[in-house]
Amino acid sequence: MIRLSQVPDTMRVMQQSRPRVLSGIQPTGTGSHLGNYLGALRRWVAMQDTFDAYYFIPDLHAITVPHDPAALRRRTREAVAELIACGLDPGRCTIFVQSQVPEHAQLCWILGCITGYGEAARMTQFKDKSARKELGSATVGLFNYPILQAADILLYQADQVPVGDDQRQHLELTRVLARRFNTQFGPTFTVPSPYEIHEAARIADLQEPTKKMSKSRPPAGTINVMDPAAQIRKKLRSAVTDTDRDVRADAEHKPGITNLLTIYSAVSGKSVERAEKEFAGSGYGDFKDVVADAVIAEVAPVQRRYAELMAEGTTVDDALFEGRTRARDVAGATLAVAHDNVGFLLPGGSGRGSRP
Ligand code: AMP
Ligand code: TRP
Repeated sequence: MIRLSQVPDTMRVMQQSRPRVLSGIQPTGTGSHLGNYLGALRRWVAMQDTFDAYYFIPDLHAITVPHDPAALRRRTREAVAELIACGLDPGRCTIFVQSQVPEHAQLCWILGCITGYGEAARMTQFKDKSARKELGSATVGLFNYPILQAADILLYQADQVPVGDDQRQHLELTRVLARRFNTQFGPTFTVPSPYEIHEAARIADLQEPTKKMSKSRPPAGTINVMDPAAQIRKKLRSAVTDTDRDVRADAEHKPGITNLLTIYSAVSGKSVERAEKEFAGSGYGDFKDVVADAVIAEVAPVQRRYAELMAEGTTVDDALFEGRTRARDVAGATLAVAHDNVGFLLPGGSGRGSRP
């Protein structure tokens, strides 16, 4: 028989026996777009019951390019509200803000000391961003970006990390650094694997459907989760299509229609084949209207919940308080082992350097 006093422990053991996932989403721009939502956030929601899940806002990463402090502060709070509005439940997963857990910057320093200069200089995101004139001249912070990301992941002993293709190289570096540290200083970090996203919903830009929908592209091609319904409809109605009239998936010749079918399939739960049948014989205009109805129906409850969360405020505050506490428990324990293994004298005589 399970006594009541044992229940929390039982729950903790259950959580510990689940594989751990961790991921972060930047607090930049106009909030999450449909690609973030379908490709990342909605999957995170599904993962919170099968994984011991940690999700965070990487605000330390956000200052690696020029930024406005007031906007960062506002966006960080909005980003947390967005995560909860999308369905992340602070009771079932851990949500936190990176800068509130000082262990990230601390472990970043240590990992920086086992990263080769050339190794960091080869990272493609660093090369791309440092070449972009509007971002000003590249900083040491931008150079350290992937090392900080490795610290994010290794602090939590994450087993799996769901990330998009552009982050795969950073995850590979994380694996290299984890193995290198473990070999040099003794077993310390779990070597994480990428979380393979099956049936990858890669959402394209509505105006340039051969490119990925992205925060850095012009707004007409991007649907934001918080866009008003009329704007979502307008953007979808002006989505680029092609000159024939068949609603049919063909990524090579009909990227625009294929993208709209992908979006429709992702929000309606119907397969692309079924959607093709549904729209056989309809014109593009009618098809776009039905896609707009489906997208609007999907985001409406998220928008309502978001407005409530921003108006009341305490749910976000409480989630962040709880999240920070839980995150620091795990991150602090890992950092102490890393400090001890690397040869730092631990305070209070708790490590190997305590008096004989
Ligand atoms: P970002 O902040 O743009 O790097 O996006 C965060 C995450 O959202 C990525 O790691 C992807 O998993 C997902 N994502 C971003 N853009 C798209 C897209 N166009 N289609 C599908 N998933 C996307
Ligand atoms: N660099 C990631 C992005 O731009 C965000 C991020 C920071 C992240 N730290 C992370 C993602 C750790 C996964 C794990 O999308």
